[in-house]
Amino acid sequence: MLEPLDDYYVNLFSTLIYNQSGIHFSKNNRSILENRLRERLKAMKIDNIRSYYEIIIKDPEEMKVLLDSVTTNLTRFFRNTGHFQTLEHYIIPKIISFKREKGMNHIRVWSAGCATGEEPYSIAMVLKEHLPLSFSAEIVASDISLTSLLTAREGFYNEARIGDVPLAYLKKYFEKKSEGYKIREDLKTMIKFDYHNLKYESGSKNIDILFCRNVIIYFDETAQKALINRFWDAMGSYSFLILGHSESLFGMKTSFEFVKTDWSCIYKKSLTLAERKI
Ligand SMILES: C[S@@+](CC[C@H](N)C(=O)[O-])C[C@H]1O[C@@H](n2cnc3c(N)ncnc32)[C@H](O)[C@@H]1O
Repeated sequence: MLEPLDDYYVNLFSTLIYNQSGIHFSKNNRSILENRLRERLKAMKIDNIRSYYEIIIKDPEEMKVLLDSVTTNLTRFFRNTGHFQTLEHYIIPKIISFKREKGMNHIRVWSAGCATGEEPYSIAMVLKEHLPLSFSAEIVASDISLTSLLTAREGFYNEARIGDVPLAYLKKYFEKKSEGYKIREDLKTMIKFDYHNLKYESGSKNIDILFCRNVIIYFDETAQKALINRFWDAMGSYSFLILGHSESLFGMKTSFEFVKTDWSCIYKKSLTLAERKI
């Protein structure tokens, strides 16, 4: 059996990671943190955690590597199909009529915590299929995991990972390669992949549709609340927030309205005319 790492330093790392990213390690998932620390020590050929701590507090690049290593990047195309049905049948029609009323025809989407890209590519396919030709859309997809973003940008997925893509979409938006499938360029160009740590301001404004699914589950209450407030500021005066299906704003004092559609539960930001700045 492996020797436990020095408690004092594991706690220091846990606090450091929380302060840097909002990711919270409780007593129950502390072994994940210990395993990741051990992997970093091994990769860097360092034999004690104290030396690693001294390196990391001075080296922002190593901090990024450690943060990447403690993230969980599990995702799937069309994960929680109810969200994509809500996008197609509820959100898109509502946003289109709101924009038309205002004489606008551009939609901004943010996939926050996009992991290896399956979520933003799924959103892009639905938008391509269901937005009128007179409308344009841009998707920003961000994550703190640099290795996941590399996969996302490449847009190559092996057979096992495309099982949830409807056949019609697979034919239209993917190119068959010998070892799997590659996202076609015209879909890719709808998405801008960015490194962004959700702990900080994104600078985004007027987002119409914000997907942040299966991300806040790793944050504690304080970090969740701060993030939801930042989302509120980044979103347009009439816009929608989609959280993961085991995540909610329940018990959090926010101005988001809870919306239950025929397919899933989402949140709406809807400012009155008097509340809008523009
Ligand atoms: C489980 S994946 C969810 C992927 C996708 N949204 C989905 O629901 O299938 C969680 C993602 O959140 C990212 N993440 C965690 N903390 C983050 C932070 N502070 N800033 C940005 N991304 C973060 C992780 O790197 C990971 O890729």
